[in-house]
This record gives sequence, C-alpha cells and structure tokens, in this order.
Amino acid sequence: MHRTHTCGELRIQHVGTEVTLSGWVQRSRDLGGMTFIDLRDRYGMTQLAFNMDTNAGLCEAARKLGREFVVKATGKIIERSSKNKNIPTGEIEIEVSALEVLNAAKTPPFTIEDDTDGGEDIRMEYRYLDLRRKPVMNNLMLRHRMSIESRKYLDSIGFLEVETPYLIKSTPEGARDFVVPSRMNPGQFYALPQSPQTFKQLLMVSGYDKYYQIVKCFRDEDLRADRQPEFTQIDCEMAFVEQEDILNTFEGMARHLFKTVKNVDVAEFPRMTYADAMEHYGSDKPDIRFGMKFQDMASVTKDKGFAIFDGAEAVLGIVAEGCATYSRKQLDALTDFVRRPQIGAKGLVYCKVNEDGSFKSSVDKFYSTEDQQAWAAHTGAKPGDLILILSGDLDKTRKQLNELRLHLGKELGLRDPNVFAPLWVIDFPLLEWDEDTERYHAMHHPFTSPKPEHMHMLESDPGKVNANAYDMVINGVEIGGGSIRIHDREIQSRMFDLLGFTKEEALAQFGFLMNAFEYGAPPHGGLALGFDRLCSLFGGSDSIRDFIAFPKNNSGRDVMIDAPAVIDGEQLKELELKLGK
Ligand code: AMO
Repeated sequence: MHRTHTCGELRIQHVGTEVTLSGWVQRSRDLGGMTFIDLRDRYGMTQLAFNMDTNAGLCEAARKLGREFVVKATGKIIERSSKNKNIPTGEIEIEVSALEVLNAAKTPPFTIEDDTDGGEDIRMEYRYLDLRRKPVMNNLMLRHRMSIESRKYLDSIGFLEVETPYLIKSTPEGARDFVVPSRMNPGQFYALPQSPQTFKQLLMVSGYDKYYQIVKCFRDEDLRADRQPEFTQIDCEMAFVEQEDILNTFEGMARHLFKTVKNVDVAEFPRMTYADAMEHYGSDKPDIRFGMKFQDMASVTKDKGFAIFDGAEAVLGIVAEGCATYSRKQLDALTDFVRRPQIGAKGLVYCKVNEDGSFKSSVDKFYSTEDQQAWAAHTGAKPGDLILILSGDLDKTRKQLNELRLHLGKELGLRDPNVFAPLWVIDFPLLEWDEDTERYHAMHHPFTSPKPEHMHMLESDPGKVNANAYDMVINGVEIGGGSIRIHDREIQSRMFDLLGFTKEEALAQFGFLMNAFEYGAPPHGGLALGFDRLCSLFGGSDSIRDFIAFPKNNSGRDVMIDAPAVIDGEQLKELELKLGK
C-alpha cells in the first residue's frame, strides 16, 4: 500500500497511530542527532522525523534524499516538541520506521515554493513542476470549484449540457480561425470553433430550450494577459426568452458563484447603456469600483483663447480626489503616461483646486482664477482635488481618458481585487464602421438581432441601429457577452447583405442556419462567459494564464511541448500540402 493517509490530514488526535505516507520531499533539515523531512502532496505537508540514536541507518538514508524525491514513509505519529502553528499538521510528526525511495529526482530548475525563484519562461518550460506549487494548485482547485458550481446551478434550473463539434467550418466572430487540413478531403480544411455559436442556435431549433456547455474555443488573435488562443467559455442558449430572462438567469449564476465559491454577497447588477458607458467612462467595460466619471468640459473651456481646446471636438475631464498635492514630478509622470505611443495623447492639462482656495493649472496663461473656479463648480471638484483634462477627437479622447482613469484608479488604490463591482452593459450598437475596409462589421456577431423598434433604420441608417446585445462586466473586465438572436430567415439575410456578403456567399457559409430558420425556429438568445477570465477575477489575478493548467505564451507557443512545430514531409504529402513561397 502506498499510503494510508495524505500529507494534509493528520492531527494531534491521531498520535500513536501507525501510518504510511507518500509524497515529495519539500526540504530536509539535518540537526546532527535528528533529521527532519517535509513531505508534500496535493493536500499539505507532514514532517517526517529520523533519530540518529534509535535508527542510524534510516537517518543516513533520509539525509541522502534530495529535493523532490518521491518517497514512501511508514511510522508512528508522535506529538512534536516544537510545534509549527502555521500549518494544519504542525502539531505532529511521523517517527519513521521504514523509508522507501519510490523515485529519485534531479534538482528542479527552480524552487517549488510559494515564492519561487523561477522566472516565467523557465516555469512554463517545466510547467509540470510549476503546477506542484501551492499557489498554482490553489488556482486550479478554484477553477474546479467554479466549474462544479456553474454546472450545479445550470442543472438545477434545467439546462442540458450538449457537446458540439470541434472540427467545423469557420464562423465569423471577429478573429482568425485555426484551421485543420482534412486528409480525406484533400485541399479542404476544417476550422476549430471560435465559439459554438451556430450549433447552439441549431439546438434551439431542435427544441433543447436550455443548453449549456463548458467548452474550449479557439481564436487566432494577438495575445494579452486576458487572451489565450484556446480558452474556455461557459456557453449558454435559451429559447422562448427575452433579454430580461437571460440577464436574470446569468446574474443569478454569477451571484451563485460569488456566494458558494467566495462567500461574497453581491447586490443586483446595475445596468448601463453602451452610450452611457462610453460617455461616462470612455469604455464599454467600465470599472465601477470607483467614480471619477468623465465630465464634458467644453462649455467651460472653449472661447477663452486656448487654441487646443477651441479646436477640439471634445474636451473631457476627470476629478482625482485629494490629488491637488501632486508634485511636479507626479504630474509629469501622468503626462508621460498619456503621451506613451500606446495611448497617444499630445498632452495633459491639470488644474489643482488647492485647499486654501487658490487654483494652479498648466494653462494659467489662458484661464483666470474665475474660469478655474467655474471648472471646479462644473465638475464638482472640492478643495484638495485635481482636475485632469484631455482634448481632441471624441473617440480618441475617450479612449485616452479611460486609460488615465484606470491608471489613476490603480495608483490611488481604488481597484481592490477583493471588491467586486459587476454590471450589465446593454443596448450595444448592432454594427460598427470599419475605416480600413470601409464597411460595417457586426459589433457582436452577425446573428445578433436588431432592436425591433430600430428595424426600420436597418438599411437607411444602419449605424444608428441598436441590438438586443449585452455584456457582463466585472471590475473593468468583459466577463461575457451575448444577445437575442435573429430567428427569421429574411432578417438574417438582410443582415448578411448589410455586412457586405453576396447572396451566394451568405448561402455558402450560412445556408444551413438560414434553412433551419425555415423549419420552426423559436425566438432565442443566450450568452457566453469567459471561464478563464471569471476564474482569474475570482482568484484576484489579471492573468488568465495562472488559471490554465497548460497555457500558451504570448507568441502562442507551448514551450514545454514545443508547439507549434513543423510536420514531416510524409505528413505534408499525405495532406497534399506544400510549404513555401
Ligand atoms: P464573445 O466573443 O464575446 O462572444 O466571447 C465571450 C467571452 O469569452 C471570453 N473571451 C476570451 N477569453 C480568453 N481568451 C480569449 N481569446 C477570449 N475571447 C473571448 C470573454 C468574452 O466575453 N458566441 C458569442 C457569445 C454569444 O453571443 O452567446 C461569443 O463567443 O470573456
């Protein structure tokens, strides 16, 4: 028998019991007469004790054990003379009477400790060792809890989990597809799903009126901390529902997860229209853990001779509470921040609303004290506050001020990872104009239904049409999104027209869906939550990689298995593929 107990479960009440434990050697301490080994497994750590006086041979053997050796130890549980209050097994140790090395180990390339000395690259290369570390294990255990609780909740209200295929045809969701050549159909390719969107809609046509799936999705897009080329969605669809039903169902699921996994009660999610989110936060995923809402400063800044503001489409400001004491250096750092090429502002105007009632701004030449008093009154800035202003093209200025707001929020400690501020962003525009291709793109995807009251503008003024589409946003992260779908062939066909598909292209790509709509398609809608993002949010991290067992790096590589990799000539020949120019 390899073990009678785990390394995490023995306590003072077990003293006197004979046990066998197996695990990894975390560390060993040699104190002359005694040798101690910390034995680790998934469940915890237990101290093994070896006494030179009573069993010299065993003690010698213990001294030879290196870090990460896999060993089996049998012995009696005894009370420790010096107890360790920091671990649950810290009151006992095992007086070892038999020791077996199950497998030796090379010295690992980094320490298997909570605070490891290993950098990101080496930990990714030896991910199986990194996964031994407690913080990483905790993340994966959190992920497991989240998936179990999601399934429990969805099952309890009648959702069916149905698996959909991974070898499919492209669905346009905005990113590039990963493709897979078909040996049996030379010259033809499958695509890996960016999401199961069309399949879940077909399941609605088939009458499975509450579907979900915890499912891998694949997108060939540029990677960031919150994006992986393969990631997991909790994908859901419901028939005979309206937007309200979907929001309530999934707000319920998020609340269930907060309660069962984190023991946090969250209030009803506020709703904010896309237009308001853009106006007040410059983002469709506002972090509402803190205020600092945008203020339109045009009416109090224009026509005073400051050409930059006078000529700008938008003059927008935020108030940083208590920041009037910022030094020159701090203000310069904020200016440098907005001037970084990724943000691209030309400059930053500040106005200190000093405690003593005076004002100091970077544009004192153009604006009198009375003018600046008017700014304070307009924005609600109090003595001690700092007003920060950006100007220019409306869309760009909003984006830049959003970055500045988030940066300041972080700097001022207003973005506490233990505080959760969810909301629904609703009423998204149906379409988005793309300057490069000079045509409309679906803001969500082509299956999203226009608001019925906007249908009349679909061809005449498409940019003004809003969709029955919504995003779940928590702490400034887009956790999920969805919509009420089109379920009418005619409307779906008009949508493809708008997006620049010819009739033939639409039929070739989506004929199966449009045909299905002719066989009794119920009204339906749904959403998908980014499961990795949800886990990292619950775990208090910005990076989803920490919550994925075997993630890819920023170049989309798995450095452990060294993928992607070239395939050999035979394989290429079999697939009738040719490489090269
Ligand atoms: P969408 O494209 O908004 O919607 O995706 C849903 C959610 O998936 C997460 N997500 C990602 N997570 C990690 N890495 C990525 N590369 C990545 N891309 C997206 C986000 C996002 O909110 N079929 C629709 C849903 C629907 O309409 O029902 C869809 O896929 O958290």
